[in-house]
Amino acid sequence: MIRQVDCHPFTDQRPGTSGLRKKVKVFQQPHYLATFVQSIFDTLAAEQDGLAGKTLVLGGDGRYFNNEAIELILRMAAANGVGRILLGQDGLLSTPAVSCIIRKHKAHGGIVLSASHNPGGPDGDFGIKYNISNGGPAPEKLTEAIFTRSKGITSYRLIEGASFDSSRLGQQKLGDMTVEVIDPVADYAELMQRLFDFDRLADLIKAGFDLRFDAMHAITGPYAKRILGDMLGVKADWLLNATPLPDFGGDHPDPNPAHAKELMTLLWQENGPVFGAASDGDGDRNMILGRRLAVSPSDSLAVLAANAKHVPGYRDGLAGIARSMPTSQAADAVAKSLGIPCFETPTGWKFFGNLLDADRATLCGEESYGTSSNHVREKDGLWAVLFWLNLIAVRGQPVTEIMRDHWRQFGRHYYSRHDYETLESDIANKIVDGLQQELGGLKGRAFGDRQLRHADDFTYHDPIDGSTSAKQGLRLMFEDGARIVLRLSGTGTEGATLRLYLESYQADPAKHDLDPQIALADLIDIAENVIGIKRQSGRQQPDVVT
Ligand code: G6P
Ligand code: ZN
Repeated sequence: MIRQVDCHPFTDQRPGTSGLRKKVKVFQQPHYLATFVQSIFDTLAAEQDGLAGKTLVLGGDGRYFNNEAIELILRMAAANGVGRILLGQDGLLSTPAVSCIIRKHKAHGGIVLSASHNPGGPDGDFGIKYNISNGGPAPEKLTEAIFTRSKGITSYRLIEGASFDSSRLGQQKLGDMTVEVIDPVADYAELMQRLFDFDRLADLIKAGFDLRFDAMHAITGPYAKRILGDMLGVKADWLLNATPLPDFGGDHPDPNPAHAKELMTLLWQENGPVFGAASDGDGDRNMILGRRLAVSPSDSLAVLAANAKHVPGYRDGLAGIARSMPTSQAADAVAKSLGIPCFETPTGWKFFGNLLDADRATLCGEESYGTSSNHVREKDGLWAVLFWLNLIAVRGQPVTEIMRDHWRQFGRHYYSRHDYETLESDIANKIVDGLQQELGGLKGRAFGDRQLRHADDFTYHDPIDGSTSAKQGLRLMFEDGARIVLRLSGTGTEGATLRLYLESYQADPAKHDLDPQIALADLIDIAENVIGIKRQSGRQQPDVVT
């Protein structure tokens, strides 16, 4: 039976960098999730080809509130005329798997439930994101339309009474809608088999290649067990934290040196593993470690691009590379040597979608531990791990040697990001506005050995659809290629987070073994002099350094 429920609009449902992300407690308010979901359905129904009878994919990273949300969305989908839902078994799907399934099954779109790398649990975060038929996050035009609808919504519809079992594979009916419960891993694993040389990978593992993969108690657990474990033969106890937990064991499921401490400790041992990798809450991020070496995500993108010819899925070459603006220019150097374009987009995976769809870029990456390719329209954690393992298997070198060779060939782009979290919004805005106002006067000024060549607020002109995205981050660019970038995070759920990105180029191989914080020390000082985050916020140091 379809029931119409009256509700009042909320005013805070504007999706951010990656969907609507809020504290679980916010989502638990009566009607909160339902009004947003109805806004999605209403917006889709108003589109040219409508929603009726269409297929949607649904799944989440298993965090606290996942089950309640899945149940509500299914009941609402059935009442809104959706034809079929492809539901990950037990409501589970990684973000890249959703993207893969939308594309493979030609679905109209999909809903991902996750707050990515943000902590979960009753006091943690929850999130919901809509992806379109290319498998990628909805473009701003659509998310804005959903937001506009949410401000005027006064009722939502759901089906009551009928029951279903999300653990039972196969088809069920919910009202007139078909719910097809699918294996969360199968389609994704099949895609990975097509891109990578699984025989060669299995040989590498059989030969004793000493690796650890940390699923951080999040969604990649089942994917890693099936693909790395069952298919490639990695020992079960080398797959760490591979059972998903609703609160991720109380930790941040964020694969970076600050949060993946257990893995860092293992890789920093004298005779420990030679390869370490981790993924985040919803499986789209990745961190790659060699023995006593954390590969910067910007370098990782550059290495994958430079070695793409070793991997079956990319053997025919790359159309281009795309990186977000704050990501280092290491990929630009590789693109130049390959004679292909390197696009610079704003932060946020959605900006890569047009370039991938138009086949202008094949590989994409961001400094925020995201890398992927045209195989899906999301970033993809396990894909990056398999890509690295494939190129290691072909080159027969550990990560540390691959990195050293890479820097010798292209120079090293020292890179670091300093995050100042949970700042008062007023203070964070004042810091950004302050720098914004000074930009004009900074050009041409000298800071120690460095001359400022250009300073601006980054504006992106999408080469495919001609759209413009302004105010995407403040950039200070120096004559020698060094950069300081400042921007406000668009994914936080508490106060404001300022991100300071630092990059400096070093061509001399004798200087490629420095700690990035030391190599970047003078830029860090310049940033504090010019921007004054510490001075104005009263903080002694950043909360997270990656
Ligand atoms: C998410 C997005 C990424 C983005 C990252 C950081 O993971 O998918 O595209 O780079 O958040 O965004 P932020 O606005 O917090 O810097
Ligand atoms: Zn994520």
